Amino acid sequence: MSDTLTLNEQKNQETSSDSDDEPWWTRDDLTYHNGRLQLGECDLQSLAARIGTPTYVIRAPRVVEKLKQIHAALDGAGVRHRIYYAIKANRTSQLLTYLASQGLCGADVCSPEEMRHAFSCGFPEKNISFTGTSLSAADVATISKFEELSFNPDSLSALRQFGKIAPGREVGIRINPDIGIGYSGNDMLQYSGNEATKFGIYLDRLPEALEIAREYDLKIVRLHFHAGCGYLDRELGQLANVLKASKAFIEQLPDVQEINIGGGLGVPHCSSDKKLDLDLWASVIADAFSGLDLTVAVEPGDFLVKDSGVLLTSVTYQERRKNVEFLGLDAGFNLAMEPAFYDLPCEPVATIPRPGEWKNYTLVGNVNEALDKWAIDHPMPPPEEGDVITLINAGGYAASMRSNHCLRGDVREVILLD
Ligand SMILES: Cc1ncc(COP(=O)(O)O)c(C=O)c1O
Repeated sequence: MSDTLTLNEQKNQETSSDSDDEPWWTRDDLTYHNGRLQLGECDLQSLAARIGTPTYVIRAPRVVEKLKQIHAALDGAGVRHRIYYAIKANRTSQLLTYLASQGLCGADVCSPEEMRHAFSCGFPEKNISFTGTSLSAADVATISKFEELSFNPDSLSALRQFGKIAPGREVGIRINPDIGIGYSGNDMLQYSGNEATKFGIYLDRLPEALEIAREYDLKIVRLHFHAGCGYLDRELGQLANVLKASKAFIEQLPDVQEINIGGGLGVPHCSSDKKLDLDLWASVIADAFSGLDLTVAVEPGDFLVKDSGVLLTSVTYQERRKNVEFLGLDAGFNLAMEPAFYDLPCEPVATIPRPGEWKNYTLVGNVNEALDKWAIDHPMPPPEEGDVITLINAGGYAASMRSNHCLRGDVREVILLD
């Protein structure tokens, strides 16, 4: 008898109440074929057997598909726009080179080194937007050498530095709308609102920004803000509030041609999340800026890459401690920090589910930190040592944020082109 299950057999062993449901995360290009998990055309078990674990896998055509979806939604709502991909979400060179060759987006960068990386992957200067934070004078000097790049200083100090080095130039400013937004209201993912944050110039300091611009003959042609990460439909009302708040700035900036609303578009993380309705999202933007002759720039990261990628891991051990069934993996939180840092749900999935009764497992990594937990009491089919466990939603802020803590940073990266 085969030691694997078809999806239906596997589902029949889940609780009867949801036995008719597909797992919430399945979709055309991420699903079981004959009981084996596939991402696009790739059989993930075979890939893991060939090159080992831990391994990041990202499917580039899905990223392109999602770029097209954003373009279509904004076109449909009549919003003149451009997209910059926030490369901080995943800066894998092969992915960036692929995206640059598609011509569907520019690159949003936040440090001089990210800027050089975007250049090296084929993004031309005119398709790069730079919005960083806590910039040094040396950073600003480096950025200002590139006259075609869109630079949005996020503080009065960076604006002044830029004015001194590059008087007479066009520039953007990052503002702080004083309203935040984030996945399921998670405070840790909000970049403005409640407490003062380091991101951007508040409305009460705008007169000083205008004064600096006058002093150095700078023309403020862009307004930029990024209010937080991971929003879905339930947060779109809050997005409308953020966009509305930006209008108090626009009114005082007669030369603004482009409004960059940042990234923050989210993907589902658990069964109760619904995927973002892009048409609804685009209509919120269209409504907010109707009647204004502006180009809307968006710089999504997560939305494009997070659910386009997975992290393949292997089971190292299974052991009960007190009443908890622990499942050890050969990958620690240092390879995908968001669940531990931001308390975002993580979904470990059996790559080839075994037959048998599903149980709740607490999945942990191989790093000596108490927070190194992937999921607590997570229902899974019975695993064995060496089984490949796929962590879905690992395409964004996993590879790019990884560390070598405990010298456990060795990991491979695979980019799928079909
Ligand atoms: C300025 C800026 N733009 C865009 C992004 C991308 O955000 P997300 O990946 O949530 O779309 C970030 C994320 O931190 C950001 O700081």
